[in-house]
Amino acid sequence: MRNPSLNEAGKRAAGESAASLVEDGMVVGLGTGSTVAWTIRKIGEMVKEGMEVLGVPTSYQSESLAISCGIRLTTLAQNPVLDLAIDGADQVDRRFFVIKGGGAAHTREKIVSHCARRFVVVCDQSKHVEQLTAPVPVEVLAFGSGLAYRRLQEMGGKPVLRMGKMKDGPVITDNGNLVMDVDFGIIDDPGVLAARLSSIPGVLDHGIFCNLDELHLARADGVEIIRKPGR
Ligand code: A5P
Repeated sequence: MRNPSLNEAGKRAAGESAASLVEDGMVVGLGTGSTVAWTIRKIGEMVKEGMEVLGVPTSYQSESLAISCGIRLTTLAQNPVLDLAIDGADQVDRRFFVIKGGGAAHTREKIVSHCARRFVVVCDQSKHVEQLTAPVPVEVLAFGSGLAYRRLQEMGGKPVLRMGKMKDGPVITDNGNLVMDVDFGIIDDPGVLAARLSSIPGVLDHGIFCNLDELHLARADGVEIIRKPGR
């Protein structure tokens, strides 16, 4: 887990706040990372108290955590429409654009979030920014990585192949691909950049999410819930 000690109380508060959205009989997308791990643990407690919940995990990490918490799992093949998906984030801007993928799980996270009627993000206030500036994770098929690298540079990005920690060589995602972290500086128009990144052959998906409905943001004095206007 990345930065396990960083603002753990805030992560826990935001994560547990979103768990309160889960109702009996729901099918829920389970995101990846240290913040949503608190959501998963809380849902596990609710299940032990008798609530019926089915989870769709977004990674091996969330799958094994959900199993250890006693949450029954299902697949998108069995349940193509989810009531809710809850996930963490690396940055969220004021217009509800999100960067995800710090744990290289963004391709499955994006699929799961788009299958959900409501997509909720949990994070602490350090990740809430005016404009997105974090490097954008891009999952790339190894076969096309040279082309993707060039295209990302042509778009004004600075791609860096993500390397393993406690593992020599590059990170390999749960889907068997590479990840490039691409610095674009300040991202003025995340929607336009998202579409351009999706157009590169061999790019599986990238970490810009444009479908956020609701943010549970941990502040020093509690969790603020911010809904996208019109949702
Ligand atoms: C996983 O690939 C990511 O999208 C995470 O959801 C994101 O990096 C947030 O993780 P933390 O809650 O651990 O900061």
